[in-house]
Amino acid sequence: MENRYWQLNNHPQGIDFASALTLEIQKKPNPQDGQILIKNEYLSLDAGTRMWMTSRTDGYQPPLPLGSMMVGLCLGEVIESKHPNFKIGDYVRAFGNWADYSCVDPIMTGAIKVDRNISDIRQHFGVLGMNGWTALWGLTETAKIKKGDNVLISAAAGSTGILACQIAANAGCNVYALSGKDSKCRYLEKNMGVKRAFNYKTEDLGNEFSKIPNGIDVYFDNVGGPILDNALPNMALYGRIAISGLISDYEKDKPTAPQRFDQILMKRLTITGFFSPDFMDQGPRLTKELSLMLKNESIKMPFDQTDGLENMLTAYSKLFTGENIGKVLLQL
Ligand SMILES: NC(=O)c1ccc[n+]([C@@H]2O[C@H](COP(=O)([O-])OP(=O)(O)OC[C@H]3O[C@@H](n4cnc5c(N)ncnc54)[C@H](OP(=O)(O)O)[C@@H]3O)[C@@H](O)[C@H]2O)c1
Repeated sequence: MENRYWQLNNHPQGIDFASALTLEIQKKPNPQDGQILIKNEYLSLDAGTRMWMTSRTDGYQPPLPLGSMMVGLCLGEVIESKHPNFKIGDYVRAFGNWADYSCVDPIMTGAIKVDRNISDIRQHFGVLGMNGWTALWGLTETAKIKKGDNVLISAAAGSTGILACQIAANAGCNVYALSGKDSKCRYLEKNMGVKRAFNYKTEDLGNEFSKIPNGIDVYFDNVGGPILDNALPNMALYGRIAISGLISDYEKDKPTAPQRFDQILMKRLTITGFFSPDFMDQGPRLTKELSLMLKNESIKMPFDQTDGLENMLTAYSKLFTGENIGKVLLQL
């Protein structure tokens, strides 16, 4: 049997992924002692993985060596196991490969067994996935939102942002959101508890943010770059900024350098970066909380699904062109 996989050959320029990755074929891998073989059913496409394709060594994870199989979250069934804690038939989520099969050390790849009897299995990449953990942790633990806070969220119609919008709205916050398309802004206002969504490509953000009564208490930032500079002078005194991601930097290899650094002192701001692998041990608690929200329908996740491993690069590009609403994933 064969295993098709995406291989990283070069560092991509912008969103030209086709010049950097190729679909290769090998024999189906055989797990060694301590490994499991997962038949991937779904692959999660995550903006943070774009950084692994660059050469930068100062990120939160080292770059992927050129010639490697591309790494990403997978969801599927264990079909062979040489690890005592996993058996054939277990349904798992792990950091596997953009491939038909992922042959991994379950401990090193954060493999966890997940409930396959939920109504939509894709929610293990959605509300119950890393994006759910990130949204919940960033708002409650990092930014410590409270009722009545004005909360601004960037990349708000994407998978992390859309969950953050709903969690903040359900907590009684006034939610302001950002997206690069008017249609997505209106969607957020209509469906995701957002009071006002701004198009960061066409609106004067400095002017719009200055109209938020009493300023922005919390900025859940997925983007960095110029939007952060527009937010800083419009933060409330003692405001909190939770840095979830810096997607505007990922394809440029250039770090965000806020021009309005002065506002950290002027507004006595707290700015904290947070990273989901750091709170993996809290996963069961976060999943339990998010499961309740899913069950009582106080939170939802739209999926942007593409079928077929061969269509991976088209699906992945959506994260950087903003074509998606909600979670981008691929079904094999
Ligand atoms: N800290 C953590 O542990 C953690 C975990 C998961 C994800 N994240 C972060 O969350 C962010 C979103 O990731 P995701 O995987 O959930 O993707 P996503 O939000 O589903 O998709 C990315 C969205 O970002 C927006 N975007 C793309 N380029 C942009 C730019 N230059 N300026 C402003 N917006 C831009 C696009 O929408 P619009 O242009 O329409 O707004 C796009 O839909 C990333 O920064 C990621 O690193 C952090």
